[in-house]
Amino acid sequence: MNMGLFLRRGFPISITTLCLVLFSLPVAAATQNQTVCLQCHGSQTGRGGAVVKPWQESIHAENGTSCQDCHGGDPKDAVNAMNPARGFLGVPKEIEIPSFCGRCHIGIRDDYLQSAHGKALGHGGPTCVTCHGSHDVKKATLDIINEKNCSRCHTYARAAELKAAMEQTEKRIVVIEERLKVYKGEGVDTEARGKALFSARNRYHRLFHEVNTAKVKAESAQIITELDKIQRDFGNIESERQKRKITGVAAVSGSLLAALLFYLLRKTYD
Ligand code: HEC
Ligand code: HEC
Ligand code: HEC
Ligand code: HEC
Ligand code: HEC
Repeated sequence: MNMGLFLRRGFPISITTLCLVLFSLPVAAATQNQTVCLQCHGSQTGRGGAVVKPWQESIHAENGTSCQDCHGGDPKDAVNAMNPARGFLGVPKEIEIPSFCGRCHIGIRDDYLQSAHGKALGHGGPTCVTCHGSHDVKKATLDIINEKNCSRCHTYARAAELKAAMEQTEKRIVVIEERLKVYKGEGVDTEARGKALFSARNRYHRLFHEVNTAKVKAESAQIITELDKIQRDFGNIESERQKRKITGVAAVSGSLLAALLFYLLRKTYD
């Protein structure tokens, strides 16, 4: 067999990739558990041990972001693990938290720093951990905006207005996501529409940290225009499907008719 052709079809490549993924998953999990940070802190009872379980249940653990990725230090050397000479940063002070988390969440850090919240950093404003926690960080949703979290420092009214503006767009995004999933399941090519949705969704998710309700409203209007475009495109998919159905029905009736004619002809000659 022509191996080049065989490979170009992608079949053995996907098998290889699958094997690589399957084999590297448990390995990645094992190396993560083997850090000296987790070994030593996992067996502590005080404040040093209390952080481990919440971290294990966090979105960071799920994505392989471990103790040393935030706190620095040497995860392979138990004796020097927390030595500043090995990059150990310790616990950040309150005003250092946005840049501590912002090493990885750069865009969000910038939006936050220029917001009313960022400007109040160090004198009454919330930091990243006020809203997300430090070790028990979960996937972020608009549920974080609630009376309990947002009325500690000011009235809830302004938070509620911001949330209402964002919820409207969120609902539209979810509806489109569900439709795309159905189309994809039916074998429709959804790549371009998926990309458009992804970009609109990212822009939308960045909106919160500026806590600027007027801006959220203005940008939401733009994002909704983009979503409208994607949904209009769904109209095209529907009419394509309709056409395909009609052609299908025509083809089936055509062959039935042919079969009938054939049968009648044979009867005449028999
Ligand atoms: C051999 C044991 C051991 C190892 C290994 C270890 N730690 Fe610690 N760590 C401790 C102890 C003990 C404390 C103090 C806990 C307390 O106050 O109850 C501590 C405290 C900390 C603190 C808080 C420091 C402070 O100033 O309050 C952080 C952050 C920390 N460890 C992160 C790490 C990271 C990251 C690693 C791996 C790179 C690591 N640790 C490895 C034993 C260890
Ligand atoms: C996503 C970043 C992040 C990760 C991952 C992370 N930490 Fe932390 N940790 C922080 C922040 C931020 C603080 C300061 C919290 C605050 O001020 O509320 C902190 C505080 C601590 C403290 C001091 C707690 C206290 O009660 O004073 C210890 C100890 C600690 N971390 C150890 C660890 C260990 C061990 C791991 C791995 C299991 C870990 N951290 C993983 C961000 C992180
Ligand atoms: C070493 C890099 C790194 C640091 C430092 C870090 N994170 Fe993350 N964070 C990640 C990764 C990777 C993910 C998972 C992928 C994603 O959703 O972006 C994530 C996910 C998140 C999410 C969920 C995002 C979502 O999709 O809903 C939140 C919230 C979050 N981090 C907050 C924080 C906070 C708060 C801190 C500081 C205490 C912090 N992160 C520090 C890497 C980091
Ligand atoms: C006043 C509360 C608050 C503060 C302060 C805050 N966040 Fe958020 N964060 C939220 C809310 C609410 C969302 C969910 C927004 C949404 O669903 O669109 C969110 C979403 C996120 C996400 C997910 C974005 C995405 O693309 O899905 C990350 C990551 C994140 N925040 C990290 C941070 C970091 C890092 C900081 C500090 C620089 C920070 N947050 C400060 C409330 C806060
Ligand atoms: C730790 C205190 C604190 C918490 C918690 C907090 N805020 Fe704020 N917030 C502030 C401060 C300080 C300001 C700026 C001064 C002011 O306008 O009162 C502010 C301002 C605002 C503004 C007005 C921004 C502007 O440009 O006018 C909005 C909107 C807002 N916060 C939303 C929220 C939401 C939503 C939450 C909950 C997820 C929240 N806040 C939680 C302290 C807080």
